[in-house]
Amino acid sequence: MASSAQLLDGKQLAQTLQTQLAERIQTLQTQHAGIRPPGLAVLMVGDNPASAAYVRGKERACAKVGIASFGQHFPGTTSQAELEATIEALNQDDRVDGILVQLPLPDHLDAVRLLHLIDPDKDVDGLHALNLGRLVRGEPSLRSCTPAGVMRLLAAYDIPVAGKSAVVIGRSILVGKPLALMLLQENATVTIAHSRTPDLAAVARRADILIVAAGRPGLVDASMVKPGAVVIDVGINRVTDTTGVSRLVGDVDFDGVAPIAQYLTPVPGGVGPMTIALLLENTVQSYCQRHALPWG
Ligand code: GUN
Repeated sequence: MASSAQLLDGKQLAQTLQTQLAERIQTLQTQHAGIRPPGLAVLMVGDNPASAAYVRGKERACAKVGIASFGQHFPGTTSQAELEATIEALNQDDRVDGILVQLPLPDHLDAVRLLHLIDPDKDVDGLHALNLGRLVRGEPSLRSCTPAGVMRLLAAYDIPVAGKSAVVIGRSILVGKPLALMLLQENATVTIAHSRTPDLAAVARRADILIVAAGRPGLVDASMVKPGAVVIDVGINRVTDTTGVSRLVGDVDFDGVAPIAQYLTPVPGGVGPMTIALLLENTVQSYCQRHALPWG
C-alpha cells in the first residue's frame, strides 16, 4: 500500500550518531595518549532468544564505535548473590563506564535490587532510582535509552513537542513512564494510557504525538489515530503467520495508519536502532565524566 506518512528513519539516524561517536572516541584517544577506551558491561541471564539478539546487537555496535565490551552471559540458574557480586566488582572496575542488566530476568531474581546496586554514575540504562528521580526533577541524568532515543528522533526531524498533546500508551518503567516525563519536560501536555484505560481509541485520537509502547501487535489501528498525527511505534513483537514464517511487527498497524499519519516509525528500523545508539552515547557520556572530558 502506498504510504503518505513520512518515515522516521531510526536506522539511518542511529548510524549517523554511531559514526559521530566513533569519531569522538578516536579523537579523544589521539588527544590523550594512553587513555583507555570507554567500556560497557552488558549482563545477560538465561537464554531468552529476544534478549540474546538485543545483547548481540549492543555488543556489535560497541565494537563498531570503539567501546570495549565486558559483557557476561550467565546461566538461567545463576543466584542473586553471584549477580550482586558481579555488579559490585564492575562498579569498582576502572575500565567500565556503563553497566546494563538485560531485562527481563528469570523469576527467581530480584531485578530491582540488582538495578539499585549499580553505581548511578555507571547506570547507562537510567533505571536506578537516583537517575529516575533526577528525571522527575528535570535535572541532568543518565536517561533510559529507548525513551531518550524517541526524543532524539523527534528532535532530528524537527518535530515540535512544546504545546502538543502527547499520548503514551504503556506505563512501563523502561519506556512509558520515563518517556512521559521527557515529553512533559519539553512542555507537551501528556497523557499516559494503559490496558485499563476506558475508550483507549478516543484517548489515542486526541494525540498530536502518539507513542505506543504496549507490547501488543496491532494494538493501534487507523481508527485510533488523528489525521496528521506523529506516530511512534516502540513495540517489537515477533509474530508467525499461517505459513509458519516469522517476522517483527510493532504495536501499530503500519499499513492502516501510514495513509493518515504525518510521520510514522517503521518496525524494524525505527526506535530499535535508536535504543542502541543512545546506550552507546550514555556510555561515552559516562566515560567523559569519569575522565573530566567535555561532553555535549
Ligand atoms: N530489555 C528490553 N529493552 C531493554 C532495555 O532498554 N534495557 C534493558 N536493561 N533491558 C531491556
